[in-house]
Amino acid sequence: MPTVADLRSKGRKTDEPITMLTAYDAPTAELVEQAEIDVILVGDSMGNAVLGHDSTLPVTTEEVESRTSAVSRVVEDSLVVADMPFLSFGVSEEDSIKNAGRMIKEAGADAIKLESGPHTIELTERLVELGIPVMAHLGLTPQRVNQLGGYGRQGTTEDAAKEIVELARAHEEAGAFSLVLEHVPANLAAGITEELDISTIGIGAGPNCDGQVLVITDVIGLGEWSPPFSKRFGDVRSEMESAVGAYKDAVESGEFPGEEHSETVEEVKDVY
Ligand code: KIV
Repeated sequence: MPTVADLRSKGRKTDEPITMLTAYDAPTAELVEQAEIDVILVGDSMGNAVLGHDSTLPVTTEEVESRTSAVSRVVEDSLVVADMPFLSFGVSEEDSIKNAGRMIKEAGADAIKLESGPHTIELTERLVELGIPVMAHLGLTPQRVNQLGGYGRQGTTEDAAKEIVELARAHEEAGAFSLVLEHVPANLAAGITEELDISTIGIGAGPNCDGQVLVITDVIGLGEWSPPFSKRFGDVRSEMESAVGAYKDAVESGEFPGEEHSETVEEVKDVY
């Protein structure tokens, strides 16, 4: 499995692409690691994916910390990256460092991810200086949904594309070990990947990044909706629907619990 150092130096560039998936709980993380996925992101996408919110904005530092702890407890080899939620960084340097530090010290993450912009260049440098590996994230940054007015593709004009290229360079220079590029034109992602020494990981960014990331509930087909650039590789939703329906029918019909699920203890008879 690649380390932070491997991703920083594109150690795997000539090898297979880097694989990254989100996970928010221990059993899922165990399965993801068994599949030899390189990087497990405890994404703030948990807001939409499993916490019932309609954006990532309400996700708290405590929620990411608790989910990261669950994932780190069972993962041995894959790299665990904790995603810093909205306003847990960038408000004050002191709070940003404390919150990022919690993910490493308390929750056992190997690295953190910041939705990046001009405001995270110095912060990235400071965190790296303190020994906290930082994965940057450019293009569509969903924590800015209110400012962007939606979840549309980014970097589609010359100026916007140039700005992403400049920010990518600045974050590499600040010490980020890897860069997520979300929902940007494939040719822009390919150009940035060519340009940078650190590895790029794309989502909705075409095939020419150094790796790919998707949200686990999209991949297994658990959510009702998934973005057009994602792909469902399974249909866990149908499996769950049929298991839950079968349980209800079995209880209502008296078929469950059967004798094999019950135990009668002789001593327990004169107790009433
Ligand atoms: O929160 C998340 O899952 C992410 C990925 C989509 C990159 O940021």
